[in-house]
Amino acid sequence: MSRQDWGIGLIGLGGIANTHLQAYLNAGLKVVGGADVDKERLRLMKERWELSIATTNWEELVDHPDVRVLDITAPHKKEIRLPIVEYAGLRKKALLIQKPLCPYLKDAKEIVDTAERLGVPLMVNQNSVFVPAFQAMEPYLRNGAIGIPYYCQIENRNWVDVSAHSWFGKDKRWVTSDMAIHHFALVHHWFGVWETIYAQMGRDPSQNGVVGDNWSVVQIHFQNGVKATVINNWAYRGHRPKPHSREEIIIQGDRGVISGDSEEICVVTTDPPARIFPQFQGKWFPDAFANVMTHFIDCLDQGKPFLCSGRDNLNAIAMIEGAYLSAEEGRSVTRREVMEKAGIND
Ligand SMILES: NC(=O)c1ccc[n+]([C@@H]2O[C@H](COP(=O)([O-])OP(=O)(O)OC[C@H]3O[C@@H](n4cnc5c(N)ncnc54)[C@H](O)[C@@H]3O)[C@@H](O)[C@H]2O)c1
Repeated sequence: MSRQDWGIGLIGLGGIANTHLQAYLNAGLKVVGGADVDKERLRLMKERWELSIATTNWEELVDHPDVRVLDITAPHKKEIRLPIVEYAGLRKKALLIQKPLCPYLKDAKEIVDTAERLGVPLMVNQNSVFVPAFQAMEPYLRNGAIGIPYYCQIENRNWVDVSAHSWFGKDKRWVTSDMAIHHFALVHHWFGVWETIYAQMGRDPSQNGVVGDNWSVVQIHFQNGVKATVINNWAYRGHRPKPHSREEIIIQGDRGVISGDSEEICVVTTDPPARIFPQFQGKWFPDAFANVMTHFIDCLDQGKPFLCSGRDNLNAIAMIEGAYLSAEEGRSVTRREVMEKAGIND
């Protein structure tokens, strides 16, 4: 079979669906159609992307025989996503679901358990893992070029006004669940399973439209000894912002440093002394989104395991859970206690 045999149906045609559709168009993937509960939004997206099927009834899209992969870009609320997973699972459709799978570990677990029970593949769209620049960093991290990695820092700071948005920023969890999840998934991919987490977070009340945390600093200790600091400060009004998708990344090893962002990277080695500027093609938006979907389809087509499976992603969602618990109780939290509390035995 070829990629063209894997027809895609999008559920939720809001803001990010534009990036998905542009990415799939660029990659020559087959989009069968889309669904959205908002009639006006549906009309606009049908016209913009020339969708041959556009429906307010997502079940109709799931049932379409040409749809084999559902791309879920509806908001990350359990009450929206779980019914779709159940319905699609019964019809054996593969599922790609936008990050965060759910901001609460118990809810994310329920979605993963449901997909597994119904025997359908579920990948989480953790597009940070598929950013061309970050993929170009990876060989230097793994091949000993910087020696043994021991510290990673990711910093994302900017001011955003989300007051006009209907749901974004309106949950009691915000920047650490909705944004830091990009970075949690990335450090999980790079460094493996985490052990303990310590977080500080807060809310600048002058940022309109946000009810939850709008800044956080999260320190993660991995089983392999690496320590990481993930900073998401979306209440920053100062000079030199580092907005998403240009957040700054540093990975330090005992023989060098990888640094940069999604558009420019550098590797400095001490043995031998060198300064390398690895080349890569593409940016986070929309190229990482094409990389995610082609990876998923190719793995499905070849019967191979894929990155960012729902089960594996619970490690990243557990970082969200651990970070909020740590900030609330002012202490370091272990992965084990977070997993046990959510009923996950691994
Ligand atoms: N970099 C990234 O990967 C990235 C960026 C932005 C958003 N996201 C994620 O994508 C998801 C959507 O975000 P967005 O910014 O596009 O939100 P949005 O509000 O712009 O779009 C969501 C759309 O889903 C529709 N919808 C709601 N319930 C539905 C249902 N039951 N069935 C069908 N459609 C339904 C809404 O009408 C809306 O058009 C979120 O989970 C968000 O975290 C990811």
